Amino acid sequence: MNSKHVIMLCGKGGVGKTTCAAATALHYATLGNRTLVISSDLTPSLRDVFEIEDSQTPVKVMDNLYLDEVSYDGVKALWDKKFGPEVYDVFSSFVDISYEAFVDFVTSILPGLRDEFMVDYIRELSESGEYDKIVWDTAPAGQTLGLLRMPAIVNEHLRTAPRIYSSVKTTRQRKRTILGVIRDWQQLSDHDMRFLRSQVDFNLVTIAEALAVRQIDGILAELSSYGLRLGHVIINQVVENPDSPFLRAKADMQQAYISELESKYQFRFTKLPLFPSEIRGAQKLEKVERRLFHDVSAT
Ligand SMILES: Nc1ncnc2c1ncn2[C@@H]1O[C@H](COP(=O)(O)OP(=O)(O)OP(=O)(O)O)[C@@H](O)[C@H]1O
Ligand SMILES: [Mg+2]
Repeated sequence: MNSKHVIMLCGKGGVGKTTCAAATALHYATLGNRTLVISSDLTPSLRDVFEIEDSQTPVKVMDNLYLDEVSYDGVKALWDKKFGPEVYDVFSSFVDISYEAFVDFVTSILPGLRDEFMVDYIRELSESGEYDKIVWDTAPAGQTLGLLRMPAIVNEHLRTAPRIYSSVKTTRQRKRTILGVIRDWQQLSDHDMRFLRSQVDFNLVTIAEALAVRQIDGILAELSSYGLRLGHVIINQVVENPDSPFLRAKADMQQAYISELESKYQFRFTKLPLFPSEIRGAQKLEKVERRLFHDVSAT
């Protein structure tokens, strides 16, 4: 069904990204694909959804299904391996530039550094060929879009970097020159952007409420400014068979937003019902999987 190697689920807080990621991963694993479900949320809940106590990473959930969480330490280690010593060397020789310029530099690069290397971490996993499918569960929308934006921003920053770094003098011996580090880093950012464009299928999880619906235009504009496109929208927690005035009122409200979405956008929409209890464990995830992938009423 999906030709891209990585399937990403994004959306605002609490809409059901992790639940949908877990059910999607279960789907591909059941079809016989060696599947990894990975979270880039630094406060992840995937383990909880699969009811896994084991803290090992990656951990085997069942045949063909593995779970991993991108930790801050893992991302930092990846950056360390690629650039750490040399960039540290550059930082530690900044005595020649003004304090303000140094602070500007550090604050502009540090939050993005973690985000860029999260993308890089998942790209490396994808390129390792270890898995047939990777399902990527993300942090709530604001942070996730920052993460997707980051390789491009870092690249932009690096374009002006040679002017600053070429005046930095150090006495230490380096394997690469500073300009060499900048060039390599730029290539890495380009590589990460190409990975996002060619290998990642973006899926939005949303709910039929005003705020969530209004956010879609912003998300689309942001994705398209980096050449990224949204493939599929899951409308979660839809009330089916309302059998009380309370549920009928809620269902009517949802239907108005669903109609608005369906008439305004050309995406493939899948409606996922509101279940009576939280979704944890294989049996409940199988129900979600059936509704996501086999429900004929879903268009
Ligand atoms: N269709 C549904 N019916 C009932 N409960 C649901 C449904 N979808 C999700 N839930 C429940 O809602 C809660 C939030 O879901 P989930 O953790 O998947 O959201 P999230 O978008 O990943 O949240 P966060 O932004 O915090 O990561 C969970 O308790 C989950 O079991
Ligand atoms: Mg989540």
